[in-house]
Amino acid sequence: MVDNRVTFGSKLGVILATVGCAVGLGSIWRFPYMLGTNGGAAFLLIYILFMIFLGIPVMVTEFFIGRYSRSNTVGSFKKMAPGTKWCWIGYNGILAAFLILGFYAVVSGWTLEYVWQTVNGSLYSTPGVDFTADFDNFSSNALRPIFWTAVFIGLTHFVIASGVEKGIERASKIMMPLLFLILVVMCIRSVTLPNAEAGLVYLFKPDFSKLTSSVVLSAVGQAFFSLSLGMGCLITYSSYFGKNTNMLATAWQVTIINTFVAVLAGIMIFPAVFSFGIAPSAGAQLVFITLPNVFEQLPFSSLWSLIFYILLAMAALTSTISLHEVVTAYIHEEFHMTRKKAAWLVSVGVFILGVLSSLSFGLLKEFTIGGLIFFDALDYLTAKIMLPLGGMLTCIFVGIRVDKKILKAELTNEGTIKFRLFSIYVFFMKYVSPIAIGIVFLNELGLLSQ
Ligand code: PFF
Repeated sequence: MVDNRVTFGSKLGVILATVGCAVGLGSIWRFPYMLGTNGGAAFLLIYILFMIFLGIPVMVTEFFIGRYSRSNTVGSFKKMAPGTKWCWIGYNGILAAFLILGFYAVVSGWTLEYVWQTVNGSLYSTPGVDFTADFDNFSSNALRPIFWTAVFIGLTHFVIASGVEKGIERASKIMMPLLFLILVVMCIRSVTLPNAEAGLVYLFKPDFSKLTSSVVLSAVGQAFFSLSLGMGCLITYSSYFGKNTNMLATAWQVTIINTFVAVLAGIMIFPAVFSFGIAPSAGAQLVFITLPNVFEQLPFSSLWSLIFYILLAMAALTSTISLHEVVTAYIHEEFHMTRKKAAWLVSVGVFILGVLSSLSFGLLKEFTIGGLIFFDALDYLTAKIMLPLGGMLTCIFVGIRVDKKILKAELTNEGTIKFRLFSIYVFFMKYVSPIAIGIVFLNELGLLSQ
């Protein structure tokens, strides 16, 4: 299929944009939070296995669909299987992107509050202050977090509406390596704190008695969430890949970088958690109550803190841009609405979800869905159901609809790159990934344990 669709300028550009979409709050905020609420090292092990054996094949498959069809999420399924219901995989992805933004924007807003509190000096003004109480005060407040959520959605909206993504990609060339460097510094400080070993044992010594179906489902969900899989984001991105992009190399490089960042985040958080007597299962606030304690232990605390939260906000921004873009591009193309109008519609919708998510830590605490507050319900529905389901159906789609000769030609750039593991990849994509995800689902629903 040939057309004049614009493509990414360079090899590095491809990797950076894809890493920018993938690396975000998922590895640095959500991963430690999931690991802590799922019992520790056993979760880490399963997560790494899923990243390699599920993440890479599903990512390669999404790259194939995107570059081959050169279209958005829904459009690509429509092009490759006209007149069928396969495009529902695309609808599932678009809805997932919208719902993810509804809680992701709130956490992104929290990062801005921490930038602000660092700048005005209030975060570190009283030595020995209880950062947990501080965070609880802030997050349960009716207005402040909503204000920051609005600011963050505004920033995302501005980038999408004014088309300055390129500038952001370029900025992230410097910011991503910097973020990485700060993570390393924080890891060193964290593992040299008193009682740090307990955190390392918690992180790296698996206790398999903790391995329940819900832990396994959480690990699948985290793998999909942190790689931005199962919702067509990478289908959209890869539709801009050039003919010479090595999609196989890109997939494993992005997966390795992402896994590495998550493990670093774990090493940064858990020794500190044990050192400061914080509960590993503290939940969504874990990163926000742990890190200020570590910054306090560093010389020039405010400076480190400031740089870290700014970089974290940037990492979040490159992800919110990609999420927003998925929904905006779809509405713009499918409903023939101007891009500007489509972007407004998405931003306002996300803000409404964001208000409800934010209030679910305070005013709307009692309002629960299936026992979960609104914020957690959005997280559960998207990461643990919609993304794995989308990934599973995407694999089945390529497994049964696509001629394997076409698949191989596209993935090897017409035979110019070697793909020795092609038959193993096809086997994984066709059988292992869908069956594995299916089993995890059934198990979680309790259908396999009776
Ligand atoms: N992968 C992003 C993160 O880890 O922060 C979150 C995300 C971005 C999920 C884009 C899905 C997506 F399409």
